[in-house]
Amino acid sequence: MTLCILLGSNKSIIINHFRLSFAGQTNQNKLKMKKNLLIYPIALTLVCLIGFNASAQQKPAAAVPQLGKSPVKDVVKAMTLEEKAKLVVGMGFKMPGMPKPTEKQMKEGVDIGGFKLPPSDEDAYNIPEKVPGAAGRTHSITRLGIPSITVSDGPAGIRIDPIRNNDSSKTYYATAFPVGTLLASSWDPALVHRVGEAFGNEIREYGADVILGPGANIHRNPLGGRNFEYYSEDPLITGDIAAAIINGIQSQGVGTSIKHFAANNQETNRNSVNTIVSERALREIYLKGFEIAVKKSQPWTVMSSYNLINGTYTSQRHDLLTTVLRDEWGFKGFVMTDWFGGRDAVAQMNAGNDLLMPGGPQQSQAIVDAVKSGKISQKQLDANVTRMLNIILKTPEFKKYKYSTKPDLKKNAEVSRMAAAQGMVLLKDEDKALPLKSKKVALFGNTSYDLIAGGSGSGNVNKAYTVSLIQGLTKGGYTVDDNLKNAYETYLNDIKAKQPKSAMSFFMLPPPPPQLAITPDMLAKEANDADVAIFTLGRNAGEGADRKVDNDFNLSTDEKALIKNISDAFHAKGKKLVVVLNIGGVIETASWRNEADAILLAWQPGLEAGNAITDVLSGKVNPSGKLATTFPMEYQDVPSAKNFPGKNLPLPEGQKPNPMMGRPAEVTYEEGIYIGYRYYNTFDVKTAYPFGYGLSYTNFKYSDLKLSSKTFNGLITATITITNTGDVAGREVAELYVSAPQSGLPKPAEELKAFAKTKLLQPKESETINLTLTAKDLASFDTAKQSWIAQYGTYEVKAGASATDIKKTKKFDLAKSIVTEKVHNVLQPQVAISELKK
Ligand code: BGC
Repeated sequence: MTLCILLGSNKSIIINHFRLSFAGQTNQNKLKMKKNLLIYPIALTLVCLIGFNASAQQKPAAAVPQLGKSPVKDVVKAMTLEEKAKLVVGMGFKMPGMPKPTEKQMKEGVDIGGFKLPPSDEDAYNIPEKVPGAAGRTHSITRLGIPSITVSDGPAGIRIDPIRNNDSSKTYYATAFPVGTLLASSWDPALVHRVGEAFGNEIREYGADVILGPGANIHRNPLGGRNFEYYSEDPLITGDIAAAIINGIQSQGVGTSIKHFAANNQETNRNSVNTIVSERALREIYLKGFEIAVKKSQPWTVMSSYNLINGTYTSQRHDLLTTVLRDEWGFKGFVMTDWFGGRDAVAQMNAGNDLLMPGGPQQSQAIVDAVKSGKISQKQLDANVTRMLNIILKTPEFKKYKYSTKPDLKKNAEVSRMAAAQGMVLLKDEDKALPLKSKKVALFGNTSYDLIAGGSGSGNVNKAYTVSLIQGLTKGGYTVDDNLKNAYETYLNDIKAKQPKSAMSFFMLPPPPPQLAITPDMLAKEANDADVAIFTLGRNAGEGADRKVDNDFNLSTDEKALIKNISDAFHAKGKKLVVVLNIGGVIETASWRNEADAILLAWQPGLEAGNAITDVLSGKVNPSGKLATTFPMEYQDVPSAKNFPGKNLPLPEGQKPNPMMGRPAEVTYEEGIYIGYRYYNTFDVKTAYPFGYGLSYTNFKYSDLKLSSKTFNGLITATITITNTGDVAGREVAELYVSAPQSGLPKPAEELKAFAKTKLLQPKESETINLTLTAKDLASFDTAKQSWIAQYGTYEVKAGASATDIKKTKKFDLAKSIVTEKVHNVLQPQVAISELKK
């Protein structure tokens, strides 16, 4: 256009130029020039007109909106349908150790041991990984300034490849923090927050954006293969501990993905099992922990689970992911699927499951097609995309954070050790067998020499080391007989060397080695030479399989015999036996515990395991953990025992059983709300160690339980004083249970409504603790009224050292029932459930 204005204004100059040149030309040339003189302005005008027109169409394109510089809504507006459908589907799956698939496999999917991996996105193979070993990535859309973000497992530490490109000169090991069951047993959100800070820092320094944890499913049954990743049988502990770790991690500028939402309480047929459960049990037990965590910590993301709830995959349930999670609880982040979770990309988008992981091109295509055919509205897809962009904006990747790949592993190991010791539970301590009085120890049990830091599968962490118990004790100044040590180490090395290495080892744990047989001579010598015996019992489990009753929940015959033999030999010499439980989930203890003088439940304590256990055995740390999950007398006492893991349904015609995906199945939660201590207390079932139980090397007195009022007026505060009456410093957890009036809905005999842990109290020192109850804390869910209701009547407040060791009680009245919240009519079972009733 500028050229035209120039030409236009200079038209006379050009004509003049023609005129001047005209004079000295031949006739033929003059004719040509005359013609030119006519044609030129016409052509010029035309050129200008065309030029004007073209320039009007090609206005310098308005700048393309850039994420972070333009409002998110403008970025969304500028995205093509294909770009949107790419953003909401992850970049694909790379099986660790699996070679790049052929083009055909990429299109058709790859068979891995009977499980067909869906077709992959080429990007997963062609774009170098930012954090090798991380579980997944999202697509970048560079045109709009949208980066790819990296998500990594898992709940006990960042799970990434420790060695890259076979170059071991530089390593990327991570801190294995104690597993979830241990953290919850600390009953100490402030401590868990500190773990979260160290953990979050490591996530950030290794370059990931979102960690795939914490796990917040309820311990419905002790055989649950992933219980070690989860916290408790109680939703209050679950929610408070989850919120603490989320807030800790997110304080470091990285995100979390609380998982697996929801009612994902088993590994058997996990990808296809239909959980049939009442709305009351869902809301009071299985959703409650998530609700507390979402409200207290706003995790950046939520991971939907594999299972179906009442007939629909959780990732395809709008009522779960939108009505409950967002509308009722106020969740602001995005929801992603579990890996390959659900079946129908279109239903998932519509449900509010914003990101499909790990993602494949066929899902993006299905979304594009669905928007074109109207099965997904533009508005819906825009909402999914917007939620993702709002989180991407917060990520280190978006902020171009220069991560070091050198987190302070030493410092984080110290945090791990400190937290581990705080969450161990002293189950038994007769005649003050602990702390250890003498330094000469006979150390038995395979796992004493090969401690289990954490569970397997995606909950595993690639750590540089695990301190064994023998290492921990030796460093702590204890001496252990070399003969025994050599016998165990040779035996275990031999077994490990023979274990087949399989690509499936991620899912399939090798069977635990049988206990080394201890000859009577060896035992006699040890009982003679050492001052005390320690026997460590180990159990491991993880993703892909549930545990078994025989030789797992129950001890094997060999294990029991060994414990008995050691006990007899040492007791005959007037010496004691200490049993250390290095386990991720609950086991049977009632049949053998009399053989032991002390039992320390060390759980799976992370990479500093041996040091942390030694800290407690030696008395350097006074144990203050309490059970967040009941230890029943026997498996058959567990309220869900007859409904775990449910029943298989017939396979559809022509379909072969798939070992990885399981088969159609259903499980009915007939026990309803009566989970764990809610059941044992209400139905008077004796337990081996009750919920909330844990000993200390000192004693505590509970006194002066006071309530702020005799009648409830919107809030009531309970005050209790705890005094250390023993002779060493220690911490105590004050647990506040409430017994609600039984006049309305049936209620559990007691429910934990608040708790707090004292500071380290010196002998004779006291602390007064205030615990507040709101109307919401008193409410139960009334399905008929679709409301949470605090029933009028008399409430009993019980301050205790466990769910069965109530020290002080007080009563208050609620004059009139209060509807604390009216909710939506959702998640209802399609079939009648014959729920347990008192
Ligand atoms: C697990 C998730 C995990 C994901 C990514 C799934 O198999 O169930 O907990 O985060 O894989 O590794």
